[in-house]
Amino acid sequence: MESTSSIVFVESDRMSQRKKTVIQILRENPGFVSGQSISDSLGISRNAVHKHVNSLRARGYRILGISRRGYKLEEEPRRLAMPIVAKLTQACAVATTFRYHAEIESTNVEAKRLARQGAPEGTVVVAECQLAGRGRLGRQWTSPAGKGLLFSVILRPDLPMADAHLLTLTTGDAVAEAIEAHVKVPVHLKWPNDLIISNKKAGGILLEVTGEHDRVDWVVAGIGINVNVEFSELPVSLRKTATSLKMATDKTVDRSGLLARILLTLERAYVDCLANGFEHTLRDCRERDYLLHRSVSVQTREGLVVGEAAGIDDRGALLVELPDRHIRRFHSGDVSLHQ
Ligand code: BTN
Repeated sequence: MESTSSIVFVESDRMSQRKKTVIQILRENPGFVSGQSISDSLGISRNAVHKHVNSLRARGYRILGISRRGYKLEEEPRRLAMPIVAKLTQACAVATTFRYHAEIESTNVEAKRLARQGAPEGTVVVAECQLAGRGRLGRQWTSPAGKGLLFSVILRPDLPMADAHLLTLTTGDAVAEAIEAHVKVPVHLKWPNDLIISNKKAGGILLEVTGEHDRVDWVVAGIGINVNVEFSELPVSLRKTATSLKMATDKTVDRSGLLARILLTLERAYVDCLANGFEHTLRDCRERDYLLHRSVSVQTREGLVVGEAAGIDDRGALLVELPDRHIRRFHSGDVSLHQ
């Protein structure tokens, strides 16, 4: 019998009543509404109205503000078409239940909470907007609401803990393959977890693992992709190094179709590596290796190591040839291109 994935719309009612009222007023008045009349209706200062408007913008509402005219609601946040995603991923073992949030702190944090409570493999936490998205090495992951793909998949692989990190490469490779098929641009992988398009970062993977007695208990594979993010929506500090699928293709990308495609590609890769080992993952990652033969610096706990990237070994470690020709293996670390 074919299993059908289910969707739970987790109602996020974090939005304050005041913000809801601001939106309501703007919806009811399709032209400009003065800041003064909003502040009169709500009994708050114009500065407070301005703060609410800014926080609504961060949640994906496009609100134009012009001095002496007021505010105009131009666009409401885009939503993923979850029923379509669920239909496209029918019988997909890594997507049996979707938990959809308009807004959440972090899909990884939520998926870990669910995994600890025993949520089954294939639970996917999806959000339009994260208030505290997490990146690797304690960094933040930011994305304007409704413009990216932000989701975390709970997996319960029967693997030794020593192999779990290889799933970062499997996930990255599956996501890269799905993006290539969906938008027809080449995607490279910058070890261990960055998705690179035209020399810039378009997404990343954050894998979090827990085990017992040296076997994996659960894995949360967190995936963040800049899909329809515009250049002007990138933080200024990232404009030289980050990109989005829309920026790379000049086209708005169907996020729902891409999400389904990633999950189906991930399922195939995951089933394959559990049955046959990580040979395919490693072969594909070597083909997508963005760093190969480039001059790199690796930040380790002991300090910075500079050399030439020399590939990925059979355990998924990064190989770097040092100036004295010795090859050093890195199992973790922060790698940058060395200028
Ligand atoms: C990185 O490149 O440092 C990894 C970024 C991973 C971001 C994703 S977005 C969905 C999931 N939830 C999080 O809080 N982080 C991951």
